[in-house]
Amino acid sequence: MIVPDDVFRDRSVLHGEQVRLEPLGPAVLEDYLLALDDPEVRRLTGSHAEHDRTAVARWLATRHEHHDRADWAVVRSEDGAFLGEAVLNDLDPDNASCNFRILLAGPHQGRGYGTEAVRLAVGDAFARGLHRVSLTVFAFNARARRVYEKCGFVVEGRCRDVLWWDGRWHDEFVMAVLAGELR
Ligand SMILES: CC(C)(COP(=O)(O)OP(=O)(O)OC[C@H]1O[C@@H](n2cnc3c(N)ncnc32)[C@H](O)[C@@H]1OP(=O)(O)O)[C@@H](O)C(=O)NCCC(=O)NCCS
Repeated sequence: MIVPDDVFRDRSVLHGEQVRLEPLGPAVLEDYLLALDDPEVRRLTGSHAEHDRTAVARWLATRHEHHDRADWAVVRSEDGAFLGEAVLNDLDPDNASCNFRILLAGPHQGRGYGTEAVRLAVGDAFARGLHRVSLTVFAFNARARRVYEKCGFVVEGRCRDVLWWDGRWHDEFVMAVLAGELR
């Protein structure tokens, strides 16, 4: 292994100018459910599943037990409002890589919070010794792609017809950033 399989074990709050990342937990249940159930967020993340309140509560309550991933609450610095989540998951310790995903609730999009949250979370992965962080983004999600490119992610490929939504197929891009490339 290049990095330990519990590489995300010790986590403190990550502070940016507009947002901070805190370990995700049950305190944000109501706002988290609202974000997940937002129809536009569901489309942009390709979420077909209905969210069961009990299952989501259990999910939030158990995040701290998992040290091979980092689930962050994205919180606005000025007032502590819950904005969304940022996640480093699918750790591959033998190759020092992981996946990234993020979602912000509808009212909090387009204000620069996402860009800062990506930089904080992915920067934390590299600070822990990871070499590569990858993600997928649907081809119709131009805003997310722009944010990832601003942060240094590059498109590595296009997967065809991965999502069936609104009666048609949609492609997605695979993107990744390597250690030293984060902007
Ligand atoms: C994707 C997401 C995290 C981005 O965070 P955000 O706070 O909304 O984005 P920011 O305000 O930091 O930056 C948005 C950038 O995209 C640009 N942008 C906005 N709409 C755009 C569009 N339709 N096409 C291209 N660029 C666009 C903005 O101009 C800005 O770039 P700039 O700083 O160069 O001007 C957030 O919108 C989100 O969570 N969306 C819903 C879920 C989602 O899409 N998750 C990602 C799944 S892969």
